[in-house]
Amino acid sequence: MSSQTATAEPQLLHLLDQLTVEEKAALVVGAGLWSTAPVERIGLEPVVLSDGPVGVRGTEGGTSAMLPAPSAVSATWDLTLAATAGELFAAEARRHGVDVVLAPQVNLQRTPVGGRHFECYSEDPHLTSEVAVALVTAAQAHGVGMCVKHYVANDSETERTRYLSRVDARTLREVYLQPFERLVQAGAWSIMGAYSGVDDGEVAAPMLEHGPLVNGVLKEEWGFDGLVVSDWVGTQSVAPAVRGGLDLQMPGPDGPWGDGLLDAVRSGEVAEHELDDKVLRLLRLAARVGRLSLPDGVAGAPPSTTSPLAVEWTRDASAAFLRELTARSIVVLKDTAGLVPLTAPGEAAAEGDRTSSGTALRVALLGSAAVAPFFQGGGSSFVVPDRLSHPADALREALPEGSEVVLHAGSRALRNPPLLDVARCTDPVSGEPGLRLDLLAGDGTVLETQTLATWDGWLQDVRPDADAVRLRATVRVDEPGEHELGVGTVGVHEVRVDGDVVATGSTVVAEDVVLASGHNHPVAVVRPLTGGGTADLDATLQVVHPVGYDDFVRAALVHRLPGPSPEDELAEAVAAAAASDVAIVVVGTTEEVESEGYDRTDLDLPGNQDELVRRVLAANPRTIVVINAGAPVVLPWLDDAPAVLWGWLPGQEAGTALADVLTGATEPSGRLPWTLPARYEDVPVPHAVPVDRVVDYAEGLDVGYRAWERRAATGAAPAAPFGHGLGWTTWSYESVAVGTEATADGGLEVTVSLRNTGPRDGREVVQVYVEPPAEDAERDPRRPVRWLGGFAVVDVPAGDSTTVTVRVPARALQTWDDGTAAWRTPPGEYRLRAGRSVRDLRLTAVVPVGDIPR
Ligand code: BGC
Repeated sequence: MSSQTATAEPQLLHLLDQLTVEEKAALVVGAGLWSTAPVERIGLEPVVLSDGPVGVRGTEGGTSAMLPAPSAVSATWDLTLAATAGELFAAEARRHGVDVVLAPQVNLQRTPVGGRHFECYSEDPHLTSEVAVALVTAAQAHGVGMCVKHYVANDSETERTRYLSRVDARTLREVYLQPFERLVQAGAWSIMGAYSGVDDGEVAAPMLEHGPLVNGVLKEEWGFDGLVVSDWVGTQSVAPAVRGGLDLQMPGPDGPWGDGLLDAVRSGEVAEHELDDKVLRLLRLAARVGRLSLPDGVAGAPPSTTSPLAVEWTRDASAAFLRELTARSIVVLKDTAGLVPLTAPGEAAAEGDRTSSGTALRVALLGSAAVAPFFQGGGSSFVVPDRLSHPADALREALPEGSEVVLHAGSRALRNPPLLDVARCTDPVSGEPGLRLDLLAGDGTVLETQTLATWDGWLQDVRPDADAVRLRATVRVDEPGEHELGVGTVGVHEVRVDGDVVATGSTVVAEDVVLASGHNHPVAVVRPLTGGGTADLDATLQVVHPVGYDDFVRAALVHRLPGPSPEDELAEAVAAAAASDVAIVVVGTTEEVESEGYDRTDLDLPGNQDELVRRVLAANPRTIVVINAGAPVVLPWLDDAPAVLWGWLPGQEAGTALADVLTGATEPSGRLPWTLPARYEDVPVPHAVPVDRVVDYAEGLDVGYRAWERRAATGAAPAAPFGHGLGWTTWSYESVAVGTEATADGGLEVTVSLRNTGPRDGREVVQVYVEPPAEDAERDPRRPVRWLGGFAVVDVPAGDSTTVTVRVPARALQTWDDGTAAWRTPPGEYRLRAGRSVRDLRLTAVVPVGDIPR
């Protein structure tokens, strides 16, 4: 508990005493979608919560600074950048009137197909913890709460509100609980309980009712004094969730606690005092974020925890920081021909900086993701960005004068055709330009009619008595050739084109569709049409009334114009590549593929993107492939590509960051925070489809790279190992030593000397992996072959050498002993291996544990 809060504790208890049971019951339920209830009498204002890991969305609309996806932040392995991202979160929260940000997500990337993989930091618990602690600590230092999510073992999306993760206690402790434990030690102010549940061998229960893990481990054992918040609409019960340790049901005011908690107290099913600790935790959080001001005359008002931000976070300042963060996150998977930074053919790479030997370049920028980058993943983390930088614009700006950038999609990655341009539509009744919208009651009566000049695919905040909408338009399709016209929607619907029924649906949907994100990217059913006139579009669609969320209608109206065939598009791109000094192909996933709410079923690049890469590689040997994806995709042409960069889901600075890397302004010093498989068949955990509602974590401690290491001698090699990333210089690892004194926490200090042997100044991520004593092969065969013990980031000028200290915490040497339910350090000779990735280990130090005090 922080000393500031300790000062306020007696006053918080005093305030608690003044509350009526009705007020207590109202305080532990949201007052709406994004805030808690106020009690003016005691100086308590609403506490406002908002998503999420990619930026602070805010509750009033408007735009936000959009960060690269969290997996990109961790790919920097740079805790200073992570802390600055935390500051930016605090500033953005202030700007949007938000007190608690629903981030970071510290679940692990257990399987590469996980829909929220991009929102997580890593497949490794230590890297996840380090990045999250830096970010949360920095944000909270400015009085903004971070709500760490989703406690615990909520690592996949299929049936996400129903499944139980079956995880043994040791695996939970050593892997999945690790980041949460570290964040509690670091003083996190709130934690979100997951939709899913856990079966730890002792208790199988939904997380929000899991007393042993929430009350027992989190609150009692670790001493967490913050607020446990439900995931949205995740609470399923009254008394079991009250006793399971949930403190705040979100959203409200309805839902199980809103509807039933006060009655449960009145009937004696729940005792009033069972609410006290929950209310106290809410008051504590409110005090911490500055939403509790004690009335005049009450002594000991909680001091404000807000310290000034070091930087004034103007939009320019956040753009400059995000540009650096995103460029730093980019991983050089390979560059066998020295294509990055860009040079003219036959020209040597400029020392240190830009191409600006001044040679003008003709660049072919290709791929649907070059034309329409996938800036951010789908789901609740979504923000509307303050600005968006596109690669073509940024490259044109950055390249030497006289350069030319030609842009071609070449590939099609999306299933759905593009959105219909409403300028083509006429209201068939009034004859006015636009779409006709009728709001219909259950009996078909028209409640309201409008002609809409724009349509972004959604009707939000629909009046509650409306059951359906009818959308009609006469659509101009006068270009000769084949058009496609259609609608993607959710729920009950009937869509007609020119009087013919092209799609129907009879399933009534509610909050289930929001939780599964099915409303974000509905697959459109389209009707092919021969152009030359008009087409009548007539769609009757359900109004979705989801408990806890706002009512809406979803209608992705789509239209593909006659145009080049996919084959023609490929050919155009290939011709442009052949005529250029260098080809840059951007390929990746899409919002239809990487999203909260569902998992992927394979790791393929969607559409014909692989074909585009193959053909461009054949047309121009000077080709750089950039991957625009948050999670692994299989790259079947990797061996043939001279240069491949992992460009992540880059956020608002997609263009400027990529241009900085390609022109040599910033080193792409990212390292993979997960393993890149070469083939889907080799993936250790290829899916997380529950069987009878259970996801079995049968791989135990061998998560991610640890599974690949276990079978290194016999199994397939990954395309790129955990920790891999080349940067743009070369390194020689010269010596390693381990301090003989334990550090304050009983851990180890490993010093590594290394030299930058390349021609450029560079940044290295020195990684130290721990290998267990040889006797563990028999004594503890479950113990992984090696695991990340620590890391350090260091900048070294070309030719210089340096020595870095890597701290390996005591926990890195410990195991959880199920028998005694305690941590222990198995004695023996541990090998500490320093290197550039888990498969590029350059130096080894042996340390006898048991012989040094700890
Ligand atoms: C997600 C959470 C998110 C919440 C509020 C849920 O569906 O799982 O991560 O914070 O919605 O948007």
